[in-house]
Amino acid sequence: MISFQGCWAILLAAGSGSRMAGCANGMSKQFLPWRGMPLYLHSALSLARSPHVEGIVFVFPSNYLEAEENRIKDLWARENPGVFWKITSGGATRRDSARNGLKLAPRGCRQVLIHDAARPFLSPELVARVCAELDNGAKCVTPVIPVTDTLKLVSADNPSVVETTLPRQRIFAAQTPQGFDEKSLRLAHERFPDSLVTDDAMLMEMLGIPTRVCPGDVANIKITTPDDMKLLRETSYPQYRVGYGYDAHRYGAGHPLKLGAVAIPGQFEVIAHSDGDVLLHALMDAICGCASLGDIGQIFPDSDPALRGISSSILLDHLLNLMAGKNVKLLNVDMTIVAQKPRIAPFRDEIRRNVARLLGLPLDCVNVKATTEEGMGFTGSLEGIKACAIANAVIL
Ligand code: CTP
Ligand code: MG
Repeated sequence: MISFQGCWAILLAAGSGSRMAGCANGMSKQFLPWRGMPLYLHSALSLARSPHVEGIVFVFPSNYLEAEENRIKDLWARENPGVFWKITSGGATRRDSARNGLKLAPRGCRQVLIHDAARPFLSPELVARVCAELDNGAKCVTPVIPVTDTLKLVSADNPSVVETTLPRQRIFAAQTPQGFDEKSLRLAHERFPDSLVTDDAMLMEMLGIPTRVCPGDVANIKITTPDDMKLLRETSYPQYRVGYGYDAHRYGAGHPLKLGAVAIPGQFEVIAHSDGDVLLHALMDAICGCASLGDIGQIFPDSDPALRGISSSILLDHLLNLMAGKNVKLLNVDMTIVAQKPRIAPFRDEIRRNVARLLGLPLDCVNVKATTEEGMGFTGSLEGIKACAIANAVIL
């Protein structure tokens, strides 16, 4: 039987990460940033991608609760991963945290997944395998991976002496998410409130409910020791953004022509609400593209009387602050001015230097080109002037 939804996931993120101590700048490991978001959110999004999962209960240390609630609210408002969510604080042990999470999972939700937030490489395929076993009637499911090394059991009295070799074929390493029949899991937590267990499947074993295994995923490791940080670094990659901008202005009595905030002498004037700096407008739209900020018309509406005749370099400054607020850092920009007249070449270096100054970029990262359209189109007939820009940025 294939069921859709009726399954809630509990994401355990309330540990202190003591084995990682010193390596995470005082932060619990599940909050380390990786590929633009804290580790725990990666597994949350993999859980959300499963058609089975209806909601997620996040379990955090109490001192992280407020900040993470705001972060999740923002993410859901922006990207809506399509599942409900709730949030609670954890307890002294993993099992206490699981119990707190379970209290928030709706009664009658049928199935519960419990996942370690410190396993950010969780794949939606693994979630699907666990859910499939639950749908096939299992009351407790654990993904496992075979162990590859020969296993030695050392003496309890003298850990430097091997007592015996264990049968490797029958030994597996357990992973999460573990899947449970909701009623059985609640019963197990109620029945054995004080037992020391390291996962919830142990509680089910104590209740006499068999755990079914399904293939785990070797990539689904739990970030635990400082060595695992290396893995995170190796699998990190910078996230680049490219933005494109275009603008045109009609020649006519209005504002004396400015390009890149450089006054271009001569008789050319442009009609515009602001100062009509076509080059900065194209550039600003390219920056909007890098930072997903829409376009400059949305940010600086031409219906706003306060913006009448305003210098575009002031608007650019405001936009750069918005971009920095989104952790986007501009790397380089390339611009083309298209005009039959005036000739741009005499001003090109000055424009380039000025734009680099306004952007706070080295000169090498700013390029200005100019061309005519060979007498064709509206630039050719001297009806107006246009500009295009491309901006390249990196997410910090
Ligand atoms: N966990 C939790 N509440 C606790 C302890 C652990 O929610 N009281 C969570 C952790 O945040 C982690 C998962 O359970 O996602 C697995 O635990 P573990 O890897 O042992 O994490 P920590 O307990 O944080 O690390 P350490 O044991 O090194 O202190
Ligand atoms: Mg622990």
